[in-house]
Amino acid sequence: MKRLLITGAAGRLGSMARQRLGHLADVVRLSDIADLGIAAPHEELVICDLADADAVDALVADCGGIVHFGGHATEAPWSAIGGANIEGMVNLYEAVRRHGRRSRIVFASSNHAIGFYRQSETIDADVPTRPDSLYGVSKVFGEALASMYHDKFGIETAIVRIGSCFPEPADHRMLATWMSADDLVALIERIFDIPVLGCPIIYGVSDNDRRWWDNSKVSYLGWRPRDNAERFRAQLDAAMDPPAPDAGDALYQGGLLATDGIHEE
Ligand code: NAI
Repeated sequence: MKRLLITGAAGRLGSMARQRLGHLADVVRLSDIADLGIAAPHEELVICDLADADAVDALVADCGGIVHFGGHATEAPWSAIGGANIEGMVNLYEAVRRHGRRSRIVFASSNHAIGFYRQSETIDADVPTRPDSLYGVSKVFGEALASMYHDKFGIETAIVRIGSCFPEPADHRMLATWMSADDLVALIERIFDIPVLGCPIIYGVSDNDRRWWDNSKVSYLGWRPRDNAERFRAQLDAAMDPPAPDAGDALYQGGLLATDGIHEE
């Protein structure tokens, strides 16, 4: 493609994508509200608040693909979440609609959209959402918005409910939820390669022995995760005790966000 936009490009996943997705487009437009450093020859840097509709309108112009990582990435008071995750999503999709609906989008949703399911359950893409936090609710909103713009205007989005994309699992729950960077990169490559995407819900998880998420509904993507968090189990067991059986991070798929209270202003 000619131009790929990566939002949230100063963040953890955005920085990784900046390093590893350059081959997908002639030009990569990187955006964030935070500093993005110095542009490489194939990069364009745009400082932009997702809550600013006019700025987002200009941001998406001429972009054939968008990897949307920008947003508030954990639980917080609502005032910290709404601007980026609600207004920002509306601004992004309205901009894509106005610019001719030509962008295919990867939306970084979250396991916290379904975080109140029990760890004893295996769920697929058809289950009702069960958000575990205001943050999770904002991701459910984003998923609904993507679905509406697909049904009404044909704009294609891969809704990726990312588990835990970190270099290594940081606790025992992540033995189920972990996603390696390699598996995420391979997924995004497939999303932009496949001729017809639609608007699927994909669980962003590696091929972990302990995973709770069934991706059989998106087998048509041809994406096969290769990593398995089980290889970290021994070192994790040595570093920490597993959570008590009645603790939030042993009961709920969203872990401690499910038992956390509301973060008041
Ligand atoms: P991060 O917090 O490192 O990156 C998010 C980026 O968005 C930051 O650079 C931040 O400056 C930017 N941002 C925040 N508000 C903004 C605004 N109003 N306008 C423009 N930019 C803004 O988070 P991370 O881990 O890289 O996550 C990326 C996305 O993936 C987020 O949407 C997050 O919710 C989602 N996600 C990540 C998971 C993970 O394991 N890392 C798990 C589940 C979902």
